[in-house]
Amino acid sequence: MARKLIIDTDPGIDDAVALTLALFDPKLDVVAVTAVGGNVPPEMASRNVQAIIEQLDPPRWPRTGSASAPDAGLPADARHIHGADGLGNAKFEVAELIHRHPAEKVICDEVRAAPDEVTILALGPLTNIARAFQRDPGLESQVGRLVIMGGAVTAPGNVTPAAEFNIYCDPVSARSVFKSRTTKTLIPLDVTNQVPLTYDLLDNLPPETSRGGAFLRRVLPHAFRSHRQLFGQEEIFLHDVVALVAVTHPELFETCEIAGDVETQGELTAGATLFDRRPRPEWRANMEIATAVDSAAVVDYIMRAMKRAGQV
Ligand code: BDR
Ligand code: CA
Repeated sequence: MARKLIIDTDPGIDDAVALTLALFDPKLDVVAVTAVGGNVPPEMASRNVQAIIEQLDPPRWPRTGSASAPDAGLPADARHIHGADGLGNAKFEVAELIHRHPAEKVICDEVRAAPDEVTILALGPLTNIARAFQRDPGLESQVGRLVIMGGAVTAPGNVTPAAEFNIYCDPVSARSVFKSRTTKTLIPLDVTNQVPLTYDLLDNLPPETSRGGAFLRRVLPHAFRSHRQLFGQEEIFLHDVVALVAVTHPELFETCEIAGDVETQGELTAGATLFDRRPRPEWRANMEIATAVDSAAVVDYIMRAMKRAGQV
């Protein structure tokens, strides 16, 4: 039976690629895609989720949920990397939606509809997940597993020297989700940085005649351009796609149980993740964290999943 999945996302190019691969993966039943502000402001994230689903027109359309701003506002966005519209300046049109539901409500509904069966893949700031747990306190123990792209263990941050982007954008929500009873797996920068993708990816995109191919060809090249212009890199990192692979192929990752927390206040360290890595840890372990990945196998999966996304 296909695994039920909610994808909470702030598209974003790597988010968009992860969604493309997930929506055409027959082993996944993507029951909902919920938008969160992060790479782009909340309203744009909601619009981008809709644009992606409309462009891809997957065999089964997921429910969608709309984003609203985190309580403290968004301290950053990443449009300098992902394009002014978050999707590589593709400027997709979207239909006017009559009924829009808040992301946290959609998350609560879908988890309650299938207790213990739903995996949540969090690809953006943890605003919606924290709100869903506040709205329905029993929900924490009904989620099958929460897989989070976020944080850094020994790797430097990617938005400040200390902080990874998703956690930095809403550290208060991240802290409360880290403390929740939900079974969770964190995929930090230390691991996503181990999967560089080269121009081979562009050479292997699905054909323009397929919906997946047409979409990826409008969005993905921008990531290579911005990585070269901003960082002088010829390769890109699709962090969120690596987190998706942790859902579909957990056997490709090494993990350990650890206690993790988030710095919410520091002038220099807000959004930093801390882990009790002392030889004799005193904090109680509250999550599984990926420590290593078979990067060749992940790249192989991405190439195969791209091909599949080009078959419709
Ligand atoms: C994360 O930040 C965002 O820019 C990416 O989409 C990814 O979710 C990586 O730090
Ligand atoms: Ca993201």
